[in-house]
Amino acid sequence: MKVILGVGGGIAAYKAAELARAFMERGATVQVVLTASAGEFIRPLTFAALTNQKVITDLFGSGSADEVLSSSVEHIRVAQENDVLVVAPTTADLLAKFASGLAPDFLTTLYLAFTGKVILAPAMNTNMWHHAATQDNVERLAARGNYILPPDEGLLACGTTGPGRLPDPAWIAEAVVTIGHPRKDLDGETILITAGPTQEAIDPVRFISNHSSGKMGYAIAAAAACRGARVILISGPVDLPQPYGVELVAVTSAAEMRDAVMGHLSDATIIVKSAAVADYHVANPAPQKLKKTPARMSLELDPTVDILAEVGRNKGDRLLIGFAAETQNLVSEGRRKMETKNADMVVANLVSTEGIGFGADVNEVTLVLRTGGVIQLPRATKRAVADEIFDHALKLRLALHARS
Ligand code: CTP
Repeated sequence: MKVILGVGGGIAAYKAAELARAFMERGATVQVVLTASAGEFIRPLTFAALTNQKVITDLFGSGSADEVLSSSVEHIRVAQENDVLVVAPTTADLLAKFASGLAPDFLTTLYLAFTGKVILAPAMNTNMWHHAATQDNVERLAARGNYILPPDEGLLACGTTGPGRLPDPAWIAEAVVTIGHPRKDLDGETILITAGPTQEAIDPVRFISNHSSGKMGYAIAAAAACRGARVILISGPVDLPQPYGVELVAVTSAAEMRDAVMGHLSDATIIVKSAAVADYHVANPAPQKLKKTPARMSLELDPTVDILAEVGRNKGDRLLIGFAAETQNLVSEGRRKMETKNADMVVANLVSTEGIGFGADVNEVTLVLRTGGVIQLPRATKRAVADEIFDHALKLRLALHARS
């Protein structure tokens, strides 16, 4: 992807350096354009070193006749050569200029000349953000088809607390990848995904849970959103940001996850059950904190509902993908779970293998298919594995339809 990163003159301009890096890490080329005031906050050299490209700082360069001649069409060249225009931070001043079509400098001129996707990440003082003028400008820009990444809430550089902070650069980079992704082959699908662990209360301060980080399920959600699907992510407690373009339903226990899944089932065309759901819950959680005694204590556990099996009984013509976390007999266990729970595919992985267990960023999985096939995928990032799962899921659905 070819990204133009416009940087406005706000205190968050320093985070744009991290954003440039995040784009580079994702294989993008990055052309940075600094406004004059952004150049007061952060030097062009920082961006030039990070992106290996000359940084554009001014419409008319140094003012020499030659430079004026070449740079006067530069905004057209830059506009034509790139896929997305990201402005981070977008100041209140830039929002106003973009909204009204004013073009006093390179970035605002480029904005008018650019015909690709425009993604704006506003960051400013809370009162400036809430001001009717700013909100009007944001509305006008959104109505025009510009993507607005709303600011985060938190403590701002000016000392106030509220919305106004530039979101985490890695999150912005992922959002841009999602918006700019060229392949939209899941357009029209509604994909219901479960992720993370569940927590089963023992008393108000303790619970039973497992080591699931949610990274695989979140990668599946991000991949589906990138490819154009409507994504409903039902997540147990994890320490991961909500992926851009994904509807998040936060749950805690297996019972809550079951209700959320069944409540959204009618919308779904594909269901991916990657959550590590607790198999048991405490029969009678204590209403008050349990006090320790020298005596041995035991907990009485009842089985939870098997959500995958319940969906399997009610799936209709939806494609159902389950997971199998195993420490041995990967394929036979995957196949057994596929049959007993009526799934169409089971993604089986050996959670005990070094480097690919819970919390890792890579995974190595085997796909067990209803059509009888077994596909061993190579070790790859969870995001790449997620894309492979969807590639095979789409082929599997075609094969299943052809059979019926
Ligand atoms: N699953 C579920 N509800 C449960 C337990 C599991 O929906 N109460 C789903 C998981 O989300 C996963 C699949 O069932 O898609 C397999 O989960 P796994 O923990 O590997 O297997 P279990 O069926 O729980 O069997 P076991 O723990 O005995 O291996």
